[in-house]
Amino acid sequence: MGDLQNHFGTDASLTPEDNQRILKYLVDNSAEKFRNYKRSQRINDSIAKNKTPIAITKTPYFVKKHRDIAKKLITQKEVSSISNCMACHTTADKGLYSERDINIPNYGKWDDD
Ligand code: HEC
Repeated sequence: MGDLQNHFGTDASLTPEDNQRILKYLVDNSAEKFRNYKRSQRINDSIAKNKTPIAITKTPYFVKKHRDIAKKLITQKEVSSISNCMACHTTADKGLYSERDINIPNYGKWDDD
């Protein structure tokens, strides 16, 4: 939030008011505030104390959970990037990441048993 002119290759600058509102939302809703949400907790706990990953996709928990997905399923046009959560997690818009709600385009349901 401190350098939005250089936001993943885009100028995402905001008015100071909007910046403050979004910053407050992010701080109020950060993973460590929600110890009862097991996935938030696991993602947060996977980050070393001296590290600040630039994106959720760079956290050790996230990397571990997604490392078995074939690269071509991620780069295909229906997905294009691992950051496109909704392409596979059909209920991501509701904050739900259950395995049974995963549907990878041109692959289908995920079953790691
Ligand atoms: C290419 C499809 C794909 C994309 C895109 C993707 N995921 Fe996943 N995700 C998976 C699969 C498959 C698993 C299940 C891995 C396993 O448990 O074997 C998974 C697992 C997870 C889990 C762990 C669920 C658990 O078991 O606790 C979380 C949390 C998660 N994804 C969040 C995200 C978020 C957030 C994004 C976007 C930043 C994202 N994923 C993008 C396919 C995807």
